[in-house]
Amino acid sequence: MKYLILSDIHSNIQAFTKVLEVEKYDKILFLGDVVGYGADPDLCYKRFLELGGEGVMGNHEYGVIKPFTLVNFSENARLGVMHSIKKLPKDYVDHMKRLPEIIQVEDFILCHSMLGHPLEFPYVFPENKDSVFLRESFAAMKKYGAKVMFTGHTHKPCIFKYKSDETIEMYNSQNGDIYLDENLYIINVGSVGQSRNSIPKAHYVIYDTQERKVAFKAVDYNIKEAARRIEEEGLPDFLAKRLFLGI
Ligand SMILES: [Fe+2]
Repeated sequence: MKYLILSDIHSNIQAFTKVLEVEKYDKILFLGDVVGYGADPDLCYKRFLELGGEGVMGNHEYGVIKPFTLVNFSENARLGVMHSIKKLPKDYVDHMKRLPEIIQVEDFILCHSMLGHPLEFPYVFPENKDSVFLRESFAAMKKYGAKVMFTGHTHKPCIFKYKSDETIEMYNSQNGDIYLDENLYIINVGSVGQSRNSIPKAHYVIYDTQERKVAFKAVDYNIKEAARRIEEEGLPDFLAKRLFLGI
């Protein structure tokens, strides 16, 4: 089975559409943050629902349904969520309220951030391989009987490997395909709609469960149009500019 796994679309319909145009897959799953930041949360959430609406809760969906959590957001992030609240029809918000914290499929789990703290949304960046949240997530994976966890949230694709000697290693994902072995893995798939690894493309993975292969992908999309729409909607300039830079 080939799973297309997308995270952090962030209302960027241009990036989302491009990924769907270029990829072939058996099933599509979402890691949260379909909305927030960008111009078109309604179009993105509509497409997400048309594709089955199978995904976990991101902190930006949580911000839409629980606006008191926006006190923890940056100014730009808060304005993005307020824009989403304005644009989203009630039935989409009702669906959002039912998004699960985690999804378990075959040998893997999806969680927007870390297991054990799914709605606190801690950030574990590539340089945080000694994070207690990471270690707790690996421990929780053992309880679930999962070999792999896919995550997003930081917008920085990378691989954390939990080895038999209980040490954790981090690998960057620039090499494309990785074949999973008997160790446990937490894999950050990066962001479709707001890359922050200095590569201004739409990032995502395909997990082939038969081959146990994770393919990291990045495709060009129409950034100019995504930025133009952000300006047209009156959102902060920085949210448009950052798309060109991948920051
Ligand atoms: Fe995000």
